[in-house]
Order: sequence, then C-alpha cells, then structure tokens
Amino acid sequence: MKGIVLAGGLGKRLGPLTKITNKHLLPIFHQPMVYYPIQTLVEAGIRDILVVTGGNHAGEFLRLLGNGEQFGLKHINYTYQEGEGGIAAALGLAEHFAEGQKIAVILGDNIIEKSIKSHVDKFKNQKEGARIIIKEVKDPHRFGVVELEDDKILSIEEKPKKPKTNYIVTGIYMYDAQVFDIIKTLEPSARNELEITDVNNAYLGRNQLHYDILDGWWTDAGAHESLLRANNLVAEKLRREKK
Ligand code: G1P
Repeated sequence: MKGIVLAGGLGKRLGPLTKITNKHLLPIFHQPMVYYPIQTLVEAGIRDILVVTGGNHAGEFLRLLGNGEQFGLKHINYTYQEGEGGIAAALGLAEHFAEGQKIAVILGDNIIEKSIKSHVDKFKNQKEGARIIIKEVKDPHRFGVVELEDDKILSIEEKPKKPKTNYIVTGIYMYDAQVFDIIKTLEPSARNELEITDVNNAYLGRNQLHYDILDGWWTDAGAHESLLRANNLVAEKLRREKK
C-alpha cells in the first residue's frame, strides 16, 4: 500500500504562527509537525510515501525531509498544491502516484499515541471501498461527526452545530482507486473547499465505508489550543517512555 501525507493549506487558524511558515513545519515538542504523520505511516509498514504540500515555504519540506533517511526510507515523493482547494483537492493530486493501488492517507497535523498497523492490515484484506478511523472526543463540532446505529455508520456531517454523537472521523483514511473518480464529482462546500467528508459519504452511499475505532490518544494540531495539546501529549508520552 502507498501512503500520502497531506501537508498543504494556509493554516489560517494558527495565525500569526503560520503567516510566514507552513503549519506542518511548526514544532510539536522535539520534532517538526510533519515528522509525526510520516512516522505513523512508516511504522504501519508503508514505505512508498508522497508528501503533498503547498502554501508558504513549501520548498523547505525538501530541505527538512530530503529522501527520508531519518525515517529509514530511501526516497520520498513530493507534489505541490496551488491555492487552498481543500483536503480532497490535495488528495486528487496523488492520482498519478497511486497507480491504481490502495492508499493510506493522513493529514499532516494529526498526531497519535499508538500504531495504525492493525487497521492498515485490515484494509489490505478488505475487498474494496474505504476504511476510516474514528475516535470519541469532547469537542465533536470541530470535526467530521459520525452518526452510528448498531455499529453501522448512518451519516457523516462536517462540523455540525449540533453533533449527533461524540464520534469523529480522524484524519486517517484508507481508499481504493475509486477515490479519484469520486473526487472528480465533488462540488466545493460552503467554505469553498472539496471536503473529504463528501468523499467518505460517497463511499457510504455505495455501502463500501468501513471503520475502526482508534486506540490511544489522538489530536489534530491545527488551532492554538490543539497545537498546545499535541505538544503536551507528546512530551508526556516521551516522559513515560523514559521512566
Ligand atoms: C478535517 C476534516 C474533518 C476531520 C478533521 C480531522 O478538518 O474536514 O472531517 O474530522 O480534518 O483532523 P479540518 O482540519 O480541515 O477543519
């Protein structure tokens, strides 16, 4: 399976920290943010990785990551997203890289405690469709919210004012090759972006959307509070591991 890290966007929610630099180059404790999603994929056994970047200082990703030696890789692929078209638009740029294979996608600001290897392995054995990873959180209105009934997903709503549950879609998604055809049918949302939630709902409509619940903590790091939270969670984890 191939892996894709989405590290573009203007990171406006983190202004002025992101006025002159890319969000994913900011520190999470002892490492730049983009290190974490790459480590998550590599740990799950994925070695063929594409970084989609854009916005400010996009060229610095090459300087920082090079060929990925620090992750035990021999090579990293890069591509550039013009403007701010949303997560699904960024993913659309990976069609050529995917070459019809299954892909694991992770948002560059998603930091997790544990491994996703068991979920990736399940998806390898899944005949077709998509697999998302969900998590119970206290502030679901900030995310894509999953409506569940008898362990089945009924709907996913992007940032609803009144969330139906506390379960949200994390920024870890696995797709088969249908994803690129689905992206081509999407219309921009109210925030003028192509939404990954619309991609997931398209798979749901085809009865091909599966999910797992993530073990261990998860956080995004795309706003001031969650950036601080991510730093604290990583620092705490390292402290625990040193003991
Ligand atoms: C995005 C997705 C949302 C998902 C979240 C996870 O939100 O649109 O569905 O729950 O990532 O981090 P964004 O960070 O673009 O607002």
